[in-house]
Amino acid sequence: MIRTTAMAVLLAAALNANATEQAAAPKADPAKGKEIAETICIACHGVDGNSPDPANPNIAGLGADYIYKQLSNFKAPEDGPALRDSPIMGGMVAGLSSEDMKNLAAHYSRQKQTPAAAGDETLIAEGRKLWRQGDFARGIPACAGCHGPAGAGLPAQYPRLAGQFKEYTEDQLKKFRLGERANDPEKMMRMIADKMSDRQIKAIAEYAAGLR
Ligand code: HEC
Ligand code: HEC
Repeated sequence: MIRTTAMAVLLAAALNANATEQAAAPKADPAKGKEIAETICIACHGVDGNSPDPANPNIAGLGADYIYKQLSNFKAPEDGPALRDSPIMGGMVAGLSSEDMKNLAAHYSRQKQTPAAAGDETLIAEGRKLWRQGDFARGIPACAGCHGPAGAGLPAQYPRLAGQFKEYTEDQLKKFRLGERANDPEKMMRMIADKMSDRQIKAIAEYAAGLR
C-alpha cells in the first residue's frame, strides 16, 4: 500500500516536470473564452461550467492546462482520429483555433463549482478507502497520490475529480478500461482502470462526487 502510493507520487513528480517545460504559452483571454462559452458550450456545460445534466461533465474549476489539453485531444488531426474520441466534443472543437481553446480554458478554470449532493453511504466508505489507500492485492495505487487527498487535482496534469457527476466518472473509468479513452500520458489511467472491478468503479465515482 505504501509502495503503490510512493510509486504514484514519483510518477506524478516526473510528469509535472514535463508539464512545466511545456507551459510557456502566450497569455489567454478569459473574456474572449466567455463569449464562445455563451454561444457554443452553454447548452451542455453552462456558462459557468456547472452542467445542467449529468450526461455532460462539470468543467468549472478544472485546471486551465487540463482543459486545454482535452479540447486539443478532442480535435481530430487531418491525417487520423482524435486522441480522445467523442463524437459530440469532436464536433464542438472542429471550428476552434488553438487560441480559442486557450481562452476557453482560461474562462472555465476561473469558475466555481457548485457540486451536487452525494448518495450511498456503503459505496462512499468503500470508495474512500480505495481513494486513500488503493488496493494492494489488485495493484491499484491510491487515487489521492495523483488527484490529491481531496480530489482537487494537481495542475497541470492531474484533473480535479471532486464534485464531478458520478455518471461521468464511472463512464470515463470504463472507457479507460476498454482503451476507448487513450489520451492519458504513459497509459497511466488505462493501467489503473484495467485492474478495477465494476464495484470499485462505482464506489470511487460515488465518493469523488461528494468530495469538496
Ligand atoms: C452537446 C453537448 C455539449 C456541448 C455543446 C459541449 N460539450 Fe463539452 N462535453 C460534452 C460531453 C458529452 C462530454 C464527455 C465526452 C466523453 O464522454 O469523453 C464533454 C466533455 C468536455 C470536456 C472534458 C472534461 C473532462 O473532465 O475531461 C471539456 C473540457 C469540454 N467538454 C469543454 C467544452 C467546451 C469548452 C465547449 C464549448 C466550445 C463544449 N464542451 C461544448 C458535451 C458537450
Ligand atoms: C499516477 C497518477 C495517477 C493515479 C494514481 C490516478 N490517476 Fe486518474 N488520471 C491521471 C492523469 C494523468 C489523468 C488525465 C489524463 C488525460 O490527460 O486525459 C487522469 C484522469 C482521470 C479521470 C478522468 C477525469 C476527467 O475529467 O475526464 C478519472 C475519472 C480518473 N483519473 C480516476 C482515477 C481514479 C479513480 C484513481 C484511483 C483508483 C486514479 N485516477 C489514479 C493520473 C492518475
